[in-house]
Amino acid sequence: MSALGPVTAVAHANIALAKYWGKAKDDENLPAVPSLSLTLAALSTTTSVVLRPELESDAVSLDGEAAAPRARERVIRVLDDIRTLSGSSARAAVESSNDFPTAAGLASSASGFAALAVAAARAYGLAMEPADLSAIARRASASAARSVFGGFVELRAGKEAAAPVLGGQDFPLVMLIAVTARGPKSIGSTEGMRHTRETSPYYPAWLSAAPPVFERARAAVLARDLEALGTAMEESALMMHASMLSARPAIIYFAPATLAVVECVRGLRKTGTPAFFTMDAGPHVKVLTAPGTAPAVEQALSAVPGVERVIASRAGGAAALVGGA
Ligand code: PMV
Repeated sequence: MSALGPVTAVAHANIALAKYWGKAKDDENLPAVPSLSLTLAALSTTTSVVLRPELESDAVSLDGEAAAPRARERVIRVLDDIRTLSGSSARAAVESSNDFPTAAGLASSASGFAALAVAAARAYGLAMEPADLSAIARRASASAARSVFGGFVELRAGKEAAAPVLGGQDFPLVMLIAVTARGPKSIGSTEGMRHTRETSPYYPAWLSAAPPVFERARAAVLARDLEALGTAMEESALMMHASMLSARPAIIYFAPATLAVVECVRGLRKTGTPAFFTMDAGPHVKVLTAPGTAPAVEQALSAVPGVERVIASRAGGAAALVGGA
């Protein structure tokens, strides 16, 4: 039975340690390469869904404001998938907010669509397995499929749903997010992937290099080997960015401060501190380290010119209902 009042779910953002870049099929949003991520406790989205049969169309509010048309369309597509499964045609009101500044340009689609899938399924009276919720979230944003689960999570190439690899508490690490000054508005991931596939002579090389680096990262997680994980993580990020940099015209997500943070991380390693970087479709740098070295790494990153703030996070848990269930 569908819920009478609002249903609320919380999901955490995730950062890919082995990157996904490129779709196997655009319409299904299936990834062309396998990816492995760490769900982060410090970045979360809270989403409430309430059925409003009297409405003619869905009402979507993001961080207290009516959603922009494109974001609204993506939310409605998830609701439509859930409606098809539940047999209900009732419209809904969706309210979603992030506990981290979206203005900082940190990706919120992963936590947002994972929280939406979990809350909407319950609101429409569906009792779905995490894998099925992950598949629904994936259709909106492939990285969102991973945020349905906590800790270390994989999404295999061509697969509908993500799957857990290891709990965060079984290999405790800290991710430090160095928020750098914002550059010009960057190209979105869907458009960036399409442009890379269509124009980059390095894209085929990325497709063949990504699976072995994913396997190395996965094996390193299971072996609790930070050095091996960090090495594979950096290779994955740099190879992904190489495919974008070689697109025509090039997609450059780096800001000057991005490379300054990379330099800082390599300097820390020279002095024996385990710290490893990764970057996504934006200028910020995410640095992986051990809990014991996190304070020193955080201090070093904060001192890099162009770094506005550093957010520290441990591994986060799975997306979950928090109210109205
Ligand atoms: O699923 P999307 O559209 O948010 O794309 C994610 C792409 C990267 O963040 C760059 C890599 C990844 O695996 O998360």
